[in-house]
This record gives sequence, structure tokens and C-alpha cells, in this order.
Amino acid sequence: MTVDLTTKIKGLTFKNPVTVASGTFGTKDEYKDFVDYKKLGAIITKTITVKPRAGNPMPRICETASGMLNAIGLQNKGLEDFLENKIPFFSKMKTPLIVNIAGESAGDFEKLAKALEKEKKVVKAIEVNLSCPNVEGGGTNFMKKRDRILEAIRAVRENAPQVIFAKLSPELGDLLEIAGEVLKAGADGLSIMNTLKGMAVDIHKRTPRLANLTGGLSGPAIKPVALRYVYEVKKKLKAPVIASGGIMTAQDAIEFLIVGADLLAVGTGNFVQPKCTMDLIRGIQEYCREKGIEHLDELRGTLKA
Ligand SMILES: Cc1cc2nc3c(=O)[nH]c(=O)nc-3n(C[C@H](O)[C@H](O)[C@H](O)COP(=O)(O)O)c2cc1C
Repeated sequence: MTVDLTTKIKGLTFKNPVTVASGTFGTKDEYKDFVDYKKLGAIITKTITVKPRAGNPMPRICETASGMLNAIGLQNKGLEDFLENKIPFFSKMKTPLIVNIAGESAGDFEKLAKALEKEKKVVKAIEVNLSCPNVEGGGTNFMKKRDRILEAIRAVRENAPQVIFAKLSPELGDLLEIAGEVLKAGADGLSIMNTLKGMAVDIHKRTPRLANLTGGLSGPAIKPVALRYVYEVKKKLKAPVIASGGIMTAQDAIEFLIVGADLLAVGTGNFVQPKCTMDLIRGIQEYCREKGIEHLDELRGTLKA
């Protein structure tokens, strides 16, 4: 029996729901020895900002129980480099590209959206990162003011015709309420969720294990929280959702599908097992075959509660 994993969101078609979470899959072809890019449902890029960013001082990642902390600080080479050096690579691929962006002002979001509008043949959707916990200015500190979040979404909506996902984290405040507001401001869907702010201490040196003191917690440790938010958002708002937060196995993926997730973004899983996404696609197919599910929509959002 062939299982149809096709996932449709606002006029876009994905051959399956499996994608990669922003910032965890290199910036171009770094995973090519492990992952067949053609087999992914979509590719989500590392956050792009208008100007290059060096990121935070090292050490900026550390392992924790069932997860990891990161304080990369949105290191990237900036918009110009992305357009010149990354877009040509992605333009050769049929896999839909979702570009993740962040800014420090509505003007930044406007610039990014205008540039991506010109690349709409390649860039099928835009994920607006409103929730990075590790940076001053462009992160949750700047974004904590509700009106700034909405300004950012409006700036992208007014300047780019692509499907827009707003990437949120509970660090911003009441996630459900903010999700409703960003949809009203023009977002087509939501990306739930970014990391939760945490810290770890080296007990021998009595120093923080991250130079930044705090970082974003990701991996299986946050999965139950992400699952809860995806469930609640789907139930209340019915909008398309890209789920991320501890998706590492087919079992995780299926849990998120049952609560209604549209796309499944693997983040920390890529570091633990670089070919994790490929295993996940196979695992979802096997589960559906076993259960006699012919199309993924027979499974999606079917939680009996
Ligand atoms: C090392 C690292 C870097 C990340 N960089 C970004 C980023 O640049 N932009 C973004 O929106 N999210 C970023 N994230 C968050 C992930 O995209 C994802 O939402 C989060 O880690 C939860 O998924 P996971 O538990 O599968 O890792 C990063 C996460 C990690 C671990």
C-alpha cells in the first residue's frame, strides 16, 4: 500500500510534512552526505538578518538532560550573501524553500521582505523569527513589546506575497493570545515553538556553561511543552502550524500530527542523528501502512480528547 504524505498549506504543496528547523541544518549543503535534500518536504533556512552578525561569544552550546542549550545569537552572513551565494544553490532544487528572517526594526523586516519578494520563484514561504531568546535587540527583548511583533508581521505582509509563518515561543508571553494577534496582522500560519530560555552551571569552575549566561533549551526536554501548544493553537485558531520542539523520532512526529501539526521541523535531532529526517519520513510511512492510513490527512488532527 502506498501512503500519500502530501501536505497542502495555503496553495503550497509539500511532498511530505518533514522539514528542518531553522539554524540546525547548516546554511546550504552541509548535510548532503546524510540527507537527500530532494526527499525533504521543505527546507527552512537559518535566520537571515539584513546585516551580517557574528553571533555570541563561545562557548555557545552545551548539552543538558534530554536536550541542549544554545546561544548562537543569530550568526549569519547577512541578506546580501544569502542572495548572492545561497539562493543560486536552492534555486536548483524542487524542494520548497522557507526562508527564516529576523530584524531589529520594522524597517529591517521591510527590507528583508522586499528582497525575498524578488525571489518568490525560489522562496515559497517566509518564517518570521519573533522569538530568539539569545540576542539583545533582535530577540525576545526587542520583541517583547506586542506592538513590535505586530509591526514586524505587517511589514512582511505588506511587502511580500509569500505564505508567512510567525515563529513564536512562550518566552514572548501568552502564546495563544499572540498567535491570534499575528494571524490578524497578516501571518498565514504559525511556527511553534522556538526554544525556552534556560541556563547551566559548571560546578567545578562555578561559571555558567554558556558565555552568554543563558541560552535556548531545545530537544526532547521541551517536546511535551511544544506538543501542548501545537494542540491548543490548532484547536483554537485552526491555522497552519509548523511544529518544532523535540521531534527526533517517528513516534514524536506522529504525536505532533495527531494533535494537528501541518509541517514537522527537526532541530536538535539533526545534531544527534544527521539523517534523522530521512528515518522520520520512513517511520511515518511505516506507521500509516500498519494502521491502514492511505493519506496523512486521515491521521492529522485526530486526537480523541
Ligand atoms: C543550535 C541552534 C540554533 C538555532 N538557530 C535558530 C535560528 O537561527 N532561527 C530560529 O528561528 N530558530 C533557531 N533555533 C530554534 C530551532 O529552529 C527550533 O525551533 C528549536 O530548537 C526547537 O526544536 P528542536 O527541539 O527540534 O531543536 C535554533 C536551535 C538550535 C538548537
